[in-house]
Amino acid sequence: MILLGIESSCDDTATAVVEDGRRVLSSVSTNQDEFHAKYGGIVPEIASRQHVALMSAAVDDALERANLALRDVHGIAVTRGPGLIGSLVVGVAAAKALAFALDKPLFAVNHLHGHIFAAFLDRDEAMPYPFLALLVSGGHSQLVEVLSAVDMRIIGRTRDDAAGEAYDKTARLLGLGYPGGPQLDALARKGNPKAYAFPRHRPDAGTLDMSFSGLKTSVRYFLESEAGRNADPADVAASFQAAVLDVLMARVDAAYRTGDYQALVLSGGVAANSGLQHAVRAWGEANRVPTFIPPPRYCTDNAAMIAAAAYHQQEFVRADALTLSADPNLPFLLAAI
Ligand code: KG4
Ligand code: ZN
Repeated sequence: MILLGIESSCDDTATAVVEDGRRVLSSVSTNQDEFHAKYGGIVPEIASRQHVALMSAAVDDALERANLALRDVHGIAVTRGPGLIGSLVVGVAAAKALAFALDKPLFAVNHLHGHIFAAFLDRDEAMPYPFLALLVSGGHSQLVEVLSAVDMRIIGRTRDDAAGEAYDKTARLLGLGYPGGPQLDALARKGNPKAYAFPRHRPDAGTLDMSFSGLKTSVRYFLESEAGRNADPADVAASFQAAVLDVLMARVDAAYRTGDYQALVLSGGVAANSGLQHAVRAWGEANRVPTFIPPPRYCTDNAAMIAAAAYHQQEFVRADALTLSADPNLPFLLAAI
Protein backbone atom coordinates (compact mmCIF):
# COMPACT_ATOMS: atom_id res chain seq x y z
CA MET A 1 0.00 0.00 0.00
CA ILE A 2 1.54 3.27 -1.14
CA LEU A 3 0.48 6.40 0.77
CA LEU A 4 1.23 10.04 0.02
CA GLY A 5 1.87 11.86 3.32
CA ILE A 6 1.35 15.58 3.92
CA GLU A 7 2.57 17.38 7.06
CA SER A 8 2.13 21.11 7.65
CA SER A 9 1.41 21.44 11.37
CA CYS A 10 4.09 24.00 12.08
CA ASP A 11 6.71 25.62 9.84
CA ASP A 12 7.90 22.75 7.63
CA THR A 13 6.05 22.02 4.38
CA ALA A 14 6.64 18.29 4.15
CA THR A 15 5.47 15.57 1.73
CA ALA A 16 6.48 11.93 1.36
CA VAL A 17 5.62 8.68 -0.38
CA VAL A 18 5.84 5.57 1.83
CA GLU A 19 5.17 1.92 1.01
CA ASP A 20 3.54 -0.29 3.67
CA GLY A 21 4.29 2.19 6.43
CA ARG A 22 7.99 1.37 6.33
CA ARG A 23 9.77 1.89 3.04
CA VAL A 24 10.33 5.56 2.34
CA LEU A 25 10.19 6.09 -1.43
CA SER A 26 10.66 9.85 -0.99
CA SER A 27 10.52 12.42 1.80
CA VAL A 28 10.90 16.12 1.15
CA SER A 29 10.69 19.04 3.51
CA THR A 30 10.98 22.71 2.77
CA ASN A 31 12.33 24.41 5.80
CA GLN A 32 11.02 27.94 6.43
CA ASP A 33 13.71 28.90 8.98
CA GLU A 34 15.00 31.83 6.89
CA PHE A 35 11.58 33.52 7.06
CA HIS A 36 11.23 33.12 10.84
CA ALA A 37 14.84 33.45 12.06
CA LYS A 38 14.82 37.24 12.31
CA TYR A 39 11.79 37.10 14.64
CA GLY A 40 13.49 34.52 16.91
CA GLY A 41 10.56 32.11 16.60
CA ILE A 42 7.79 30.95 14.31
CA VAL A 43 5.33 33.60 13.11
CA PRO A 44 2.09 31.63 12.45
CA GLU A 45 0.81 33.91 9.68
CA ILE A 46 4.09 33.69 7.77
CA ALA A 47 4.10 29.89 8.20
CA SER A 48 0.63 29.42 6.73
CA ARG A 49 1.33 31.72 3.77
CA GLN A 50 4.51 29.82 3.02
CA HIS A 51 2.62 26.50 3.15
CA VAL A 52 0.18 27.85 0.54
CA ALA A 53 3.04 28.94 -1.69
CA LEU A 54 4.97 25.66 -1.39
CA MET A 55 2.39 22.87 -1.07
CA SER A 56 1.66 21.97 -4.73
CA ALA A 57 5.33 21.88 -5.67
CA ALA A 58 6.08 19.81 -2.55
CA VAL A 59 3.50 17.17 -3.60
CA ASP A 60 4.92 17.06 -7.15
CA ASP A 61 8.45 16.84 -5.77
CA ALA A 62 7.68 13.84 -3.50
CA LEU A 63 6.01 11.96 -6.38
CA GLU A 64 8.79 12.74 -8.82
CA ARG A 65 11.49 11.55 -6.41
CA ALA A 66 9.52 8.35 -5.80
CA ASN A 67 9.24 7.91 -9.57
CA LEU A 68 5.48 7.65 -9.30
CA ALA A 69 2.42 9.45 -10.61
CA LEU A 70 -0.57 10.49 -8.50
CA ARG A 71 -2.62 7.59 -9.86
CA ASP A 72 -0.09 5.11 -8.33
CA VAL A 73 -0.89 6.29 -4.80
CA HIS A 74 -3.45 4.26 -2.83
CA GLY A 75 -4.41 6.96 -0.35
CA ILE A 76 -3.58 10.34 1.18
CA ALA A 77 -2.41 10.72 4.79
CA VAL A 78 -2.43 14.15 6.40
CA THR A 79 -1.69 15.70 9.79
CA ARG A 80 -4.98 16.82 11.30
CA GLY A 81 -3.48 18.27 14.50
CA PRO A 82 -2.24 19.28 17.00
CA GLY A 83 -0.43 22.32 15.64
CA LEU A 84 -0.96 25.83 14.32
CA ILE A 85 -4.45 26.14 12.89
CA GLY A 86 -3.45 28.30 9.92
CA SER A 87 -0.71 25.86 9.00
CA LEU A 88 -2.80 22.71 9.48
CA VAL A 89 -5.65 23.90 7.27
CA VAL A 90 -3.34 24.23 4.28
CA GLY A 91 -2.24 20.58 4.48
CA VAL A 92 -5.74 19.33 5.21
CA ALA A 93 -7.21 21.30 2.28
CA ALA A 94 -4.53 19.95 -0.08
CA ALA A 95 -5.12 16.36 1.11
CA LYS A 96 -8.88 16.64 0.74
CA ALA A 97 -8.55 18.08 -2.76
CA LEU A 98 -6.25 15.24 -3.82
CA ALA A 99 -8.43 12.53 -2.24
CA PHE A 100 -11.51 13.99 -3.94
CA ALA A 101 -9.88 14.38 -7.36
CA LEU A 102 -8.33 10.89 -7.28
CA ASP A 103 -11.24 9.20 -5.52
CA LYS A 104 -8.78 7.66 -3.04
CA PRO A 105 -9.15 7.29 0.76
CA LEU A 106 -8.14 10.10 3.09
CA PHE A 107 -6.46 9.29 6.43
CA ALA A 108 -6.23 11.93 9.16
CA VAL A 109 -3.26 11.46 11.47
CA ASN A 110 -2.38 12.85 14.88
CA HIS A 111 1.03 14.52 14.55
CA LEU A 112 2.27 12.89 17.78
CA HIS A 113 1.30 9.41 16.62
CA GLY A 114 3.31 10.18 13.50
CA HIS A 115 6.43 10.87 15.57
CA ILE A 116 6.08 7.48 17.27
CA PHE A 117 5.82 5.53 13.98
CA ALA A 118 8.83 7.40 12.54
CA ALA A 119 10.97 4.99 14.55
CA PHE A 120 9.98 2.08 12.28
CA LEU A 121 10.69 3.75 8.93
CA ASP A 122 13.26 1.94 6.80
CA ARG A 123 13.39 -0.95 9.32
CA ASP A 124 12.11 -4.52 8.95
CA GLU A 125 11.52 -5.76 12.51
CA ALA A 126 7.98 -6.75 13.51
CA MET A 127 6.18 -4.08 15.54
CA PRO A 128 7.33 -4.69 19.16
CA TYR A 129 3.99 -4.14 20.94
CA PRO A 130 3.62 -3.33 23.76
CA PHE A 131 6.39 -0.72 23.81
CA LEU A 132 7.26 2.46 25.65
CA ALA A 133 7.87 5.65 23.67
CA LEU A 134 9.70 8.75 24.86
CA LEU A 135 8.30 11.53 22.70
CA VAL A 136 10.28 14.75 23.00
CA SER A 137 9.59 17.64 20.63
CA GLY A 138 9.27 21.40 20.59
CA GLY A 139 5.74 21.29 21.95
CA HIS A 140 5.57 17.98 23.83
CA SER A 141 7.52 15.79 26.24
CA GLN A 142 5.76 12.64 27.21
CA LEU A 143 6.09 8.95 27.94
CA VAL A 144 3.61 6.88 25.99
CA GLU A 145 2.53 3.31 26.55
CA VAL A 146 1.80 1.87 23.07
CA LEU A 147 -0.29 -1.31 23.13
CA SER A 148 -1.26 -1.23 19.44
CA ALA A 149 -1.34 1.27 16.57
CA VAL A 150 -4.51 2.77 18.00
CA ASP A 151 -4.26 1.94 21.69
CA MET A 152 -1.89 4.37 23.37
CA ARG A 153 -1.83 6.13 26.71
CA ILE A 154 0.29 8.98 28.03
CA ILE A 155 1.76 7.79 31.36
CA GLY A 156 4.08 10.73 32.07
CA ARG A 157 4.43 14.28 30.78
CA THR A 158 6.19 17.55 31.37
CA ARG A 159 4.54 19.84 33.87
CA ASP A 160 5.89 22.98 32.22
CA ASP A 161 8.28 23.39 29.27
CA ALA A 162 8.69 20.70 26.64
CA ALA A 163 12.27 19.44 26.29
CA GLY A 164 12.65 21.14 22.88
CA GLU A 165 11.31 24.39 24.32
CA ALA A 166 13.91 24.20 27.11
CA TYR A 167 16.60 23.70 24.47
CA ASP A 168 15.36 26.59 22.36
CA LYS A 169 15.04 28.99 25.33
CA THR A 170 18.44 28.05 26.76
CA ALA A 171 20.02 28.41 23.32
CA ARG A 172 18.60 31.91 23.16
CA LEU A 173 20.14 32.73 26.58
CA LEU A 174 23.47 31.57 25.17
CA GLY A 175 23.03 33.90 22.19
CA LEU A 176 22.62 31.07 19.69
CA GLY A 177 20.33 31.51 16.67
CA TYR A 178 16.94 29.98 15.99
CA PRO A 179 16.13 27.09 16.06
CA GLY A 180 18.34 26.61 19.06
CA GLY A 181 18.18 22.86 19.75
CA PRO A 182 20.55 21.69 17.01
CA GLN A 183 22.99 24.58 17.67
CA LEU A 184 23.07 23.93 21.41
CA ASP A 185 23.62 20.23 20.67
CA ALA A 186 26.63 21.07 18.46
CA LEU A 187 28.09 23.46 21.06
CA ALA A 188 27.58 20.94 23.89
CA ARG A 189 29.78 18.44 22.07
CA LYS A 190 32.74 20.83 22.57
CA GLY A 191 32.16 21.42 26.29
CA ASN A 192 32.55 19.69 29.63
CA PRO A 193 29.24 18.22 30.86
CA LYS A 194 30.51 18.21 34.44
CA ALA A 195 31.59 21.87 34.46
CA TYR A 196 28.43 23.08 36.24
CA ALA A 197 25.94 21.14 38.33
CA PHE A 198 22.58 22.49 37.17
CA PRO A 199 19.57 21.15 39.11
CA ARG A 200 17.80 17.96 38.06
CA HIS A 201 14.06 17.92 38.68
CA ARG A 202 13.13 15.14 41.11
CA PRO A 203 9.49 14.14 40.72
CA ASP A 204 7.17 13.29 43.58
CA ALA A 205 6.81 9.60 44.30
CA GLY A 206 4.13 7.88 42.24
CA THR A 207 4.33 10.09 39.17
CA LEU A 208 6.25 9.79 35.92
CA ASP A 209 5.94 13.50 35.18
CA MET A 210 8.94 15.72 34.54
CA SER A 211 9.84 19.41 34.59
CA PHE A 212 12.38 21.58 32.79
CA SER A 213 11.53 25.17 33.71
CA GLY A 214 13.64 25.17 36.93
CA LEU A 215 16.67 24.08 34.93
CA LYS A 216 16.19 26.82 32.35
CA THR A 217 15.79 29.46 35.10
CA SER A 218 18.89 28.22 36.87
CA VAL A 219 20.93 28.55 33.65
CA ARG A 220 19.57 32.09 33.26
CA TYR A 221 20.59 33.13 36.81
CA PHE A 222 23.99 31.51 36.33
CA LEU A 223 24.63 33.38 33.07
CA GLU A 224 23.73 36.67 34.77
CA SER A 225 26.24 36.01 37.58
CA GLU A 226 29.95 36.97 37.57
CA ALA A 227 30.99 33.31 37.11
CA GLY A 228 28.47 32.90 34.31
CA ARG A 229 29.69 35.94 32.40
CA ASN A 230 33.19 34.40 32.34
CA ALA A 231 32.06 30.84 31.63
CA ASP A 232 32.82 29.03 28.40
CA PRO A 233 29.45 28.76 26.59
CA ALA A 234 30.36 25.24 25.44
CA ASP A 235 30.69 24.13 29.09
CA VAL A 236 27.32 25.73 29.94
CA ALA A 237 25.68 24.00 26.95
CA ALA A 238 27.22 20.63 27.84
CA SER A 239 26.22 20.96 31.51
CA PHE A 240 22.64 21.96 30.55
CA GLN A 241 22.42 19.00 28.18
CA ALA A 242 23.74 16.62 30.87
CA ALA A 243 20.94 17.78 33.21
CA VAL A 244 18.23 17.29 30.53
CA LEU A 245 19.53 13.82 29.73
CA ASP A 246 19.63 12.84 33.41
CA VAL A 247 16.00 13.91 33.89
CA LEU A 248 14.79 12.14 30.73
CA MET A 249 16.69 8.91 31.34
CA ALA A 250 15.59 8.70 34.98
CA ARG A 251 11.97 8.99 33.81
CA VAL A 252 12.48 6.38 31.08
CA ASP A 253 14.05 3.99 33.55
CA ALA A 254 11.19 4.38 36.04
CA ALA A 255 8.49 4.17 33.35
CA TYR A 256 9.92 1.06 31.73
CA ARG A 257 9.56 -0.83 34.99
CA THR A 258 5.82 -0.09 35.20
CA GLY A 259 4.82 -2.33 32.26
CA ASP A 260 5.63 -5.45 30.32
CA TYR A 261 7.31 -3.57 27.48
CA GLN A 262 9.19 -5.19 24.61
CA ALA A 263 11.11 -2.16 23.38
CA LEU A 264 11.86 1.52 23.89
CA VAL A 265 11.14 4.02 21.12
CA LEU A 266 12.69 7.49 21.05
CA SER A 267 10.97 10.07 18.88
CA GLY A 268 10.25 13.76 18.25
CA GLY A 269 12.57 16.60 17.22
CA VAL A 270 14.74 16.37 20.34
CA ALA A 271 15.38 12.70 19.51
CA ALA A 272 17.76 14.10 16.87
CA ASN A 273 20.00 15.16 19.77
CA SER A 274 23.27 13.27 19.63
CA GLY A 275 23.63 13.06 23.42
CA LEU A 276 20.08 11.73 23.86
CA GLN A 277 20.52 9.16 21.08
CA HIS A 278 23.70 7.97 22.77
CA ALA A 279 22.09 7.84 26.25
CA VAL A 280 19.09 5.85 25.01
CA ARG A 281 21.30 3.37 23.13
CA ALA A 282 23.53 2.90 26.20
CA TRP A 283 20.47 2.39 28.44
CA GLY A 284 19.08 -0.20 26.01
CA GLU A 285 22.36 -2.12 25.96
CA ALA A 286 22.74 -2.02 29.77
CA ASN A 287 19.15 -3.23 30.28
CA ARG A 288 19.00 -5.58 27.26
CA VAL A 289 16.07 -3.66 25.82
CA PRO A 290 15.73 -3.23 22.02
CA THR A 291 15.72 0.46 21.15
CA PHE A 292 14.19 2.12 18.08
CA ILE A 293 15.64 5.53 17.29
CA PRO A 294 14.87 7.21 13.96
CA PRO A 295 17.71 8.80 12.01
CA PRO A 296 17.71 12.60 12.59
CA ARG A 297 15.81 13.32 9.32
CA TYR A 298 12.80 11.37 10.65
CA CYS A 299 13.06 12.76 14.21
CA THR A 300 12.14 16.31 13.28
CA ASP A 301 8.85 17.00 11.54
CA ASN A 302 8.46 15.13 8.26
CA ALA A 303 5.65 13.61 6.21
CA ALA A 304 7.01 10.05 6.00
CA MET A 305 6.04 9.57 9.65
CA ILE A 306 2.47 10.71 8.85
CA ALA A 307 2.14 8.18 6.02
CA ALA A 308 3.62 5.53 8.35
CA ALA A 309 1.13 6.18 11.16
CA ALA A 310 -1.77 6.15 8.68
CA TYR A 311 -0.63 2.80 7.33
CA HIS A 312 -0.39 1.19 10.78
CA GLN A 313 -3.72 2.68 11.89
CA GLN A 314 -5.80 2.09 8.73
CA GLU A 315 -6.14 -1.55 9.72
CA PHE A 316 -8.29 -0.37 12.65
CA VAL A 317 -9.99 2.81 11.48
CA ARG A 318 -12.18 3.76 8.58
CA ALA A 319 -10.94 6.33 6.08
CA ASP A 320 -11.97 9.89 6.90
CA ALA A 321 -14.75 11.80 5.20
CA LEU A 322 -13.98 14.74 2.95
CA THR A 323 -15.69 16.97 5.52
CA LEU A 324 -12.56 16.50 7.69
CA SER A 325 -11.37 19.67 9.39
CA ALA A 326 -8.02 20.53 10.95
CA ASP A 327 -7.99 20.45 14.75
CA PRO A 328 -5.23 22.49 16.43
CA ASN A 329 -6.03 20.85 19.79
CA LEU A 330 -6.57 17.30 18.56
CA PRO A 331 -6.53 15.01 21.63
CA PHE A 332 -3.89 12.31 21.85
CA LEU A 333 -6.33 9.41 22.10
CA LEU A 334 -8.13 8.20 19.01
CA ALA A 335 -11.82 8.85 19.05
CA ALA A 336 -14.14 5.85 19.27
CA ILE A 337 -13.27 3.40 16.52
O1 KG4 B 1 9.25 17.47 16.41
P1 KG4 B 1 9.73 18.82 15.98
O2 KG4 B 1 10.45 18.93 14.65
O3 KG4 B 1 8.57 19.84 16.00
C1 KG4 B 1 7.55 19.77 16.95
O4 KG4 B 1 6.59 18.98 16.72
O5 KG4 B 1 7.70 20.46 17.97
O6 KG4 B 1 10.68 19.31 17.17
C2 KG4 B 1 11.34 20.56 17.10
C3 KG4 B 1 12.13 20.73 18.37
C4 KG4 B 1 12.73 22.13 18.51
O7 KG4 B 1 12.52 22.57 19.84
C5 KG4 B 1 14.20 21.90 18.22
O8 KG4 B 1 15.06 22.84 18.86
C6 KG4 B 1 14.41 20.51 18.78
O9 KG4 B 1 13.26 19.80 18.39
N1 KG4 B 1 15.60 19.87 18.24
C7 KG4 B 1 16.68 19.54 18.98
C8 KG4 B 1 17.63 19.00 18.07
N2 KG4 B 1 17.09 19.01 16.82
C9 KG4 B 1 15.84 19.54 16.94
N3 KG4 B 1 16.90 19.66 20.29
C10 KG4 B 1 18.09 19.23 20.75
N4 KG4 B 1 19.07 18.72 19.97
C11 KG4 B 1 18.89 18.58 18.62
N5 KG4 B 1 19.85 18.06 17.86
ZN1 ZN C 1 6.71 17.39 15.66
